[in-house]
Amino acid sequence: MTAEYKVVNTVADNVLQLEISAIKKMAMLSARVDDAVSLAWGLPSFSTPDYIRDAVKQQLDIDDDLGKYSLPDGLAGFRQQVAQKHLADTGVQVSADDNVMITAGNMQGMNILFHSILNEGDEVILTDPCFASHIQQLRLCGALPVYWPLDEDNDWQPNSELLAARITDKTRAIVIVSPSNPTGIIFSKQVLMKLGELARERGLLVIIDDPYSAFIYENSPPYFNLAAVPEFSGNIVYLFSFSKCYAMSGWRLGYMIMPAYLKQQVLKVQDANIICAPRISQIAGMAALAHAPDHLAGFIKILSARRALICERLDQLPHVFSYSRPEAAYYVFPRILVPHDNSHDFSIKLLESVGVSLTPGSAFGPSGEHHVRMAYCVDDGVINEAFDRIEKYFSSSYL
Ligand SMILES: Cc1ncc(COP(=O)(O)O)c(C=O)c1O
Repeated sequence: MTAEYKVVNTVADNVLQLEISAIKKMAMLSARVDDAVSLAWGLPSFSTPDYIRDAVKQQLDIDDDLGKYSLPDGLAGFRQQVAQKHLADTGVQVSADDNVMITAGNMQGMNILFHSILNEGDEVILTDPCFASHIQQLRLCGALPVYWPLDEDNDWQPNSELLAARITDKTRAIVIVSPSNPTGIIFSKQVLMKLGELARERGLLVIIDDPYSAFIYENSPPYFNLAAVPEFSGNIVYLFSFSKCYAMSGWRLGYMIMPAYLKQQVLKVQDANIICAPRISQIAGMAALAHAPDHLAGFIKILSARRALICERLDQLPHVFSYSRPEAAYYVFPRILVPHDNSHDFSIKLLESVGVSLTPGSAFGPSGEHHVRMAYCVDDGVINEAFDRIEKYFSSSYL
């Protein structure tokens, strides 16, 4: 039996047309290159804070139920804590039973949400550029991304005037990631309010995927969370991830806040998909929320210094890259100014020639072409080594 035969006969069409995210592809390719340095994956260098690890160690000794499933929407006590956190963060009161769902991270949350709301051929509006995996998740449901371009000349802000024309009878939702991956920009309150109003008028969901709102740097514009506007609550699904701000990416933990009617439906998909988020991770999440997040100031200080470093290094290469200074998260999305065919080939050539791994911008949507994403959540030494190599490369062979 040939490999081709097997593919044609056993793999679903929706899967055949999927691509593994370029972020992971570059991570896998660079793992094969000796001495590679990577700015490709947004995986922070931090460890899970001690107060969370210590609490889990203690629970391991005393909690006889720790190895058991929880209910599909998560442990009741954890959902109560989440409802309190959401009230503190947004001023909006939600019910732990009716509106809160614990997930195995925002990727899993987005997946079950998309599977709950989308039929084949439905459309979802994504910003362009957007988070690359959202495109693949839509394809997995047989749904289509409709791109809402961000304005590179206006520091990658969305333009609300361009939104209405993208809504059709098939539109089900608009996805927002602010602070943005891959641009590191905070979307303005003005644009988000217009988006909320339009969504309410047209009966659309606004899905807010939020791994990064804890990472806002000094002198940045204020972060605005649309989930804090009570009038829009009926249209909003808010997803919070513990991965980045608690350095818990490997624990796989997040939560979703959504209207009660939707939670009833999503629960069925959660049960069919994973049953529940891992209980030990929920215990870790309870420890996280029971404690003041005092580790965050340290994370932000380090990331802010890394942002200054990467901007300084980019400023020394004005003939290679132009960029908007990131305001939040830990990504920068420079335009490639040197001659090249496309961002994919550019990134592969850089990896093969000098062992530097960047993510090609085309993975984040059509407007991402001719850009690369750099993640500066890695140690200073990695940033400096990557830029030393890039600098040397572009001062010699390339031009
Ligand atoms: C926008 C966005 N959503 C989701 C994720 C993944 O989150 P989680 O680890 O909670 O699944 C990431 C990680 O890079 C991200 O940038």
